[in-house]
Amino acid sequence: MHDGIDQLNAILYDDRGFQLRGERPALDMMSSTELHAWFDNVRNVLEGAYVAHSEPWRQSGMSGPEDRWVSLRKPVADCIERGGSFLDIGCANGYLLECCMKWTAERGIQIDPYGVDVSERLVDLARKRSPQFADHFFVANAFNWTPPMRFDYVRTELVYVPTELEREYVRRLLDGFVRPGGRLLIANYTEDHPNPTVGILPGASAISHILDHLAVLGFPVEGYRDGYDPVKSRRVRIAILNNGERHS
Ligand SMILES: C[S@@+](CC[C@H](N)C(=O)[O-])C[C@H]1O[C@@H](n2cnc3c(N)ncnc32)[C@H](O)[C@@H]1O
Repeated sequence: MHDGIDQLNAILYDDRGFQLRGERPALDMMSSTELHAWFDNVRNVLEGAYVAHSEPWRQSGMSGPEDRWVSLRKPVADCIERGGSFLDIGCANGYLLECCMKWTAERGIQIDPYGVDVSERLVDLARKRSPQFADHFFVANAFNWTPPMRFDYVRTELVYVPTELEREYVRRLLDGFVRPGGRLLIANYTEDHPNPTVGILPGASAISHILDHLAVLGFPVEGYRDGYDPVKSRRVRIAILNNGERHS
């Protein structure tokens, strides 16, 4: 594995629930052993950081008061314009799904929640929070998981895979996760950040402008929703990609 990965130390929590120190590994293609170790590291670092807290939003990786969570996560729900199935990739303790159900219900929209996370401990928390949906939660690495069905809405971040695998990952989600006519929601939680590397695992992309990033990868974007937290001047952007026919 690249040296930097092995030298990582979690030193502080920031808005993403963790901050890391370490050399950024070279962006050459990883071997399968290296890739395995990369995903193991993601799971270990995030799982440890999240389960150390009791507030549900902190168990999903966000520090600060609940208001910040609402400002920076409600835009995910705002991308949902009609009822249907919703898969949260990287669902952690399932709190985003829970909130999205509530936020969409306020607009008369009902979603059927599903979640997948690479961490068994976090998925256990999600199943405990929402026992009625226990069989809607899966422990898997989204990069190589084959879901049991396709979904109307799928949310992810690009930082769940190393930079060089982003294009393959997005293609895979569009082809195998999102049903035709459905939407892929790609969240960037470091939008406009002056130093987007803070809180990003070495090897993943630190993205300041998700629309530009997706354009370079060759994925047309249908629209986006933004969230802003004035207290810490944090912005998020959720890019909306349609799978095939227009979403209406
Ligand atoms: C910041 S939390 C996201 C929580 C919530 N979905 C949200 O958007 O606020 C990121 C989660 O993604 C999970 N994760 C990271 N890489 C993953 C992968 N390749 N496959 C599945 N889950 C992954 C982590 O274990 C962690 O629980």
